[in-house]
Amino acid sequence: MTGSQDGPANDLDQWLAGCGSHRQTQYLERERRVLSGNHAVEIQAGGQPLLNFSSNDYLGLASHPELVAALNNTARSNGVGSGASALVTGYREEHRLLEQELAEFLQREKVLLCSSGYLANLAVATSLVGKGDVIIQDRLCHASLIDAARLSEARFLRYAHADMAALQRQLELKKAGNTLVVSDGVFSMDGDTAPLTEMATLCEGYQAWLAVDDAHGIGVCGPGGRGSVAAAGLGSSQVPILTGTLGKALGCFGAFVAGSEALINHLVNEARSYIYTTAMPPALAAAARAALRRVIEDDWRREQLQGLIKHFRQGASRRGLILMASDSPIQPMVIGDSQTTLELASRLQRQGFLVVAIRPPTVRKGTARLRITLTAAHQPAQLDALLDAIATASSYV
Ligand SMILES: Cc1ncc(COP(=O)(O)O)c(C=O)c1O
Repeated sequence: MTGSQDGPANDLDQWLAGCGSHRQTQYLERERRVLSGNHAVEIQAGGQPLLNFSSNDYLGLASHPELVAALNNTARSNGVGSGASALVTGYREEHRLLEQELAEFLQREKVLLCSSGYLANLAVATSLVGKGDVIIQDRLCHASLIDAARLSEARFLRYAHADMAALQRQLELKKAGNTLVVSDGVFSMDGDTAPLTEMATLCEGYQAWLAVDDAHGIGVCGPGGRGSVAAAGLGSSQVPILTGTLGKALGCFGAFVAGSEALINHLVNEARSYIYTTAMPPALAAAARAALRRVIEDDWRREQLQGLIKHFRQGASRRGLILMASDSPIQPMVIGDSQTTLELASRLQRQGFLVVAIRPPTVRKGTARLRITLTAAHQPAQLDALLDAIATASSYV
């Protein structure tokens, strides 16, 4: 007898069915949709053409021919899998070159490639703090940073979003041991930027180490696309630990930690989420090198994106739509409850717009939202069409 045809077959299936129906009644059930074709603004889901407003491919690089060619060529010469973890036999010349080029770009001594941003954040927290230490985070930090803090076994404190007085109070609790302060650079679900200058000053005053996860800033903001830390005029002495992902503005996959030679050497030796996982395929490193060249050379992509962000916000305000305060490509519109947010998202999808409803636990209860993301590949007319559709759909829910 199978659980799917005749009801739950055993204890486990029964328990899972209970979890599922609880999620359903709360409008928190998640489903994946299968997309086809190139990753671009115009996509297909189940045969339906849609305009994608839920991608982190901020510079429109994911399907760029130079990235595709680099991936193909390196797969031909190096194969697909890296075959082992980096410390065994998985570390290739393409990895080394990408690390070197990222370090030059970010003006840091060294970079360590990781297989994902999630793993990069685990690497930092678990190898820098532990029992007897303290880790302090903004309450809206990304889930990977929260999990990293939990795994580190350090005392975990969180302060209200961007509240520097609260951060200071927590820093004052400092006893023996090390203190690591961690924040998103650009907040993934809100789109605003952390008060990095104030954080750096506080960390300096209290001898705490500052780590910034700039997954949504690198490539997008700051001088030459060097991210929110560079935009704040901060360097390696104020922010000694910087993580970023290759899966968003760089249109690839994988991630990195940037910092001093000593930091990277420490991670190579101590970071379990780096040591005990297969190294990223070398062809992906080659694609990321091609992406980095576009990030460095194509200022026009960032300029285009900034123009679109402005256009979108002005258009929203003209239509009386309230967006969160954000000057990043992440333009959330808080709806409140999950049911209404889902209803809005499905109305938009029926009209050809893919805007994913973001619900708890990704965001706090009562703050479910449409998280609209803009990319350099959007057209102003597509933004206007989405805004019109949101204005109309909002009047029905
Ligand atoms: C702030 C932040 N950090 C880390 C990650 C994880 O990066 P990756 O997708 O490379 O694991 C994400 C998103 O996925 C993110 O938004």
